[in-house]
Amino acid sequence: MSNKTIAFIGTGNMSYAIIGGMLKNGFSARNIIATNRNQEKLDKVAQDFTVQTTSDNIDAIKRADVIVLSVKPQMMEALCETFRLANIDLTDKVVISVAAGITLARLKEMLQSDAKLVRCMPNTPSLVGLGVSGLFSQDINEQEQRFIDQIFSATGMTVWLHSESQINDIIAVTGSSPAYFFLFMQAIEEKAKALGFNEQQARQLVQQTALGAAQMAISQPDISLEQLRANVTSKGGTTHAAIESMKDNQLPLTVANAMDACIARAEEMEKQI
Ligand SMILES: NC(=O)c1ccc[n+]([C@@H]2O[C@H](COP(=O)([O-])OP(=O)(O)OC[C@H]3O[C@@H](n4cnc5c(N)ncnc54)[C@H](OP(=O)(O)O)[C@@H]3O)[C@@H](O)[C@H]2O)c1
Repeated sequence: MSNKTIAFIGTGNMSYAIIGGMLKNGFSARNIIATNRNQEKLDKVAQDFTVQTTSDNIDAIKRADVIVLSVKPQMMEALCETFRLANIDLTDKVVISVAAGITLARLKEMLQSDAKLVRCMPNTPSLVGLGVSGLFSQDINEQEQRFIDQIFSATGMTVWLHSESQINDIIAVTGSSPAYFFLFMQAIEEKAKALGFNEQQARQLVQQTALGAAQMAISQPDISLEQLRANVTSKGGTTHAAIESMKDNQLPLTVANAMDACIARAEEMEKQI
């Protein structure tokens, strides 16, 4: 691994997941700095990982080659202002923002700097090493791209996007979609309970089935999802009855509409922040 120093500014859930993945994947703790304004959260990071921790963002970014900005979108402006006031030279540093709803143009405006900027949209399964991170940049060279790819590959798979607007699409496809799956699982769980399964059974039955279905799809990449579904749907059978009912109730259209609503919200946030 490279000897570059990576600073995580605002080490909450997302940064915690990325740091954990990096350490498992051969990055040296010595090259990672984690900051947080909340001392309790910082203490937890220090306790769980052997990375450097500090509440001094300015010191951390001065020492870093790559900076991951991981505060909530509405806090980004105030954070960037502290960098501006400290007069830090970000030229030659790579600044990665994982915040939803902040375009690279807006981030550049906030930083008022010529730093090399990257947008990244990870998702929560990164917490268990099965995440997807969508990435976009126009500023970095191949070597920097490879390095950033290694960082985010540590929490799952990465996909480099061709245009910044695809970041909002990836929010709908992978960023928000863990919640769609949880809602679907929850609906099956609720019905299982209504049918008499106890709470623990209902939960275990639905999660094992979701895992099995995902694993079947992963282990048979040449078979389309349509075909996998057809394989368990004999005409006139029980699954056929269930699927027809879902189609009658426009399930595919409901999902497509939900994803459009997600993209529209991301676009709206970009205008507000
Ligand atoms: N979680 C996800 O699924 C997900 C997915 C994709 C992208 N993201 C993006 O990732 C970013 C972080 O999300 P998260 O879920 O990790 O949030 P989080 O758990 O709230 O982590 C952010 C941390 O940064 C701290 N902080 C805020 N301002 C700071 C400052 N000026 N200096 C140092 N620390 C500061 C916060 O402290 P306090 O606790 O005191 O507020 C908080 O502990 C967000 O922009 C979000 O849009 C998250």
